[in-house]
Amino acid sequence: MNFTIVHYQSQEYYRMVELRDTVLRKPLGLTLDLTLLGNEETSIHIAGFEGNTLQCCLLLTPLEPSIIQMRQVAVDTHIQSKGIGKQLVQFSENIARELFYKEIILHARKNVVGFYEKMGYSTYGDEYIEVSIPHINMKKIL
Ligand SMILES: CC(C)(COP(=O)(O)OP(=O)(O)OC[C@H]1O[C@@H](n2cnc3c(N)ncnc32)[C@H](O)[C@@H]1OP(=O)(O)O)[C@@H](O)C(=O)NCCC(=O)NCCS
Repeated sequence: MNFTIVHYQSQEYYRMVELRDTVLRKPLGLTLDLTLLGNEETSIHIAGFEGNTLQCCLLLTPLEPSIIQMRQVAVDTHIQSKGIGKQLVQFSENIARELFYKEIILHARKNVVGFYEKMGYSTYGDEYIEVSIPHINMKKIL
């Protein structure tokens, strides 16, 4: 698996948007809201390729000088549970460290809290509903 940063609005970026739609939104009966993508220029777009095939991706969105948010974490449905999400998150944490961020926060879907716990993230605060399903905030000090 080759992990790389892709440019906003590049061809690879739009492939990521498609994967995010397939893995994260369609299973909830939602469709992609293209107007939201306008907010993504300041995010770091990270993708994992096997050959030419995009297999996973996520975004890192700077919030404060020391805090960055991990968002839109998606591994292709056919290859989940094979350690790819773990590699993707580890690669992204290293990028955040290189950029001198001290903390990653994220809005975890409740059904994947165990995944992030294995990656060293801790829950904080109360549960809430986002995109129609229960979420909880998590964070990791880098
Ligand atoms: C959640 C997701 C990113 C995890 O990636 P993955 O490649 O399937 O997970 P990995 O194989 O790297 O799992 C790493 C570890 O976490 C565990 N894990 C994975 N998913 C889990 C879950 N839902 N609950 C608890 N543990 C989980 C694995 O068993 C593995 O444990 P191990 O290291 O002891 O073997 C991926 O399944 C996905 O894209 N899911 C759908 C979209 C989604 O929910 N994204 C997150 C939104 S917050």
